[in-house]
Amino acid sequence: MTETVASNLLEYYKSNRFNPVLIPLENEEQWRSHLAKRCNLYEKHLGIPMVLLNGRSVLEFGPNSGENALVLAKFGANLTLVEPNEQVIPRIEAIFDQFGLTGRIKIINSRLEDFDTNEVYDMVIAEGFLSTLDHREDALRRIGNYVSPGSFGVISFNDLHGGFLEMLRRLVLFRACNLSGVHSVHGQRSLAIAKSLYFDDFARLPASRNFESWWKDTLVNPFYHSKYLWSYLDVLPILAEVGADFHSSSPMWSTFKHYTWYKKLDDPCDRLEKIRANWHSELPYFLTGMGPTVIGFAPSDDVIIQLERLMQEMSELTRTEKFSGLCPAPPQLLLSYLKAYPDVEFNRFSTELAQLFKALNASKAEDLIQAYRSTVLLKQMWGTPYHYLCFQKLL
Ligand SMILES: C[S@@+](CC[C@H](N)C(=O)[O-])C[C@H]1O[C@@H](n2cnc3c(N)ncnc32)[C@H](O)[C@@H]1O
Repeated sequence: MTETVASNLLEYYKSNRFNPVLIPLENEEQWRSHLAKRCNLYEKHLGIPMVLLNGRSVLEFGPNSGENALVLAKFGANLTLVEPNEQVIPRIEAIFDQFGLTGRIKIINSRLEDFDTNEVYDMVIAEGFLSTLDHREDALRRIGNYVSPGSFGVISFNDLHGGFLEMLRRLVLFRACNLSGVHSVHGQRSLAIAKSLYFDDFARLPASRNFESWWKDTLVNPFYHSKYLWSYLDVLPILAEVGADFHSSSPMWSTFKHYTWYKKLDDPCDRLEKIRANWHSELPYFLTGMGPTVIGFAPSDDVIIQLERLMQEMSELTRTEKFSGLCPAPPQLLLSYLKAYPDVEFNRFSTELAQLFKALNASKAEDLIQAYRSTVLLKQMWGTPYHYLCFQKLL
């Protein structure tokens, strides 16, 4: 397996000749399934009816091999695809040809940062890479500026708080490899240990990609690090700077627009504050993926700070190709918050979490693996690691 010397995510994919999100479209059933998932995302979660894309201009950065763009083209969108990885361009051309939609795309082999135009578009998309860019705030402003007034932008990012369980799984794998004498997490022995820990539960998810892709793209990817994870609390103020506003998200967690009369208009400043408060009380959902059963049991800022520090610590422990350093101390404030949460499931999650942190200090890999596998709730929870955010440019 190729040793990782990449300096950014794009190089990691290219040097490993790895397509992280290859979606097979070889037969009718695969196409229908892909179409249904993308329509569900756009229509039901993000609130954008596909038929309204007919004849619209769409700019997509980082389309990879183009399977998602294909769905928009099928609904009549005209796409400009800006993709820096030349390895995937033949597949974009091939699938658009296969579906007779070549006339709907223009492909530009470029990075977002190097792309420049005076045009504005009816929709601008950047999924799956934005948060890993060195100057992601500037990149987001550029995206916002390419959206025409009243139109939409869709970005996705690896969420800092929602990625807690992914990061913990990563740490458990690195530590289990370390206890087993595995020198590099990028090898086959690491994949075998990852399978013994996670395969059975992963297999139950309706995921599009296979286990090995998830292992490579999340568990051992050197770019799965807290500095490349993002948060609504960082993103929304940047969007506000370019005159854009939260429209919707997937997963759908926000309730701040609910239960109000449409004639009661928000002051834009109040709106950011409302989203912030809403976000705080949704932390248990972000962490676990389990919907909160009470409204307003928000954590203190200290809990959030502790969680963010822990994400940073776990990232550093898993930054190179093997675990290095001391196992992190259990996050007591977070554990206490979850223990006090007025729902028995979250209390149980707190207990399992505390046990797993203790097991990280085991002296044998089998004991750590066994401790993980004996959790009931935790091993079936996936948090909310990946978020789509749809914003609207103000008129
Ligand atoms: C994880 S893939 C996501 C593909 C697709 N957008 C999706 O969400 O399924 C990331 C894509 O972003 C592209 N990419 C990475 N850095 C980029 C940059 N600076 N500008 C534009 N695209 C970039 C990669 O080449 C790759 O195609």
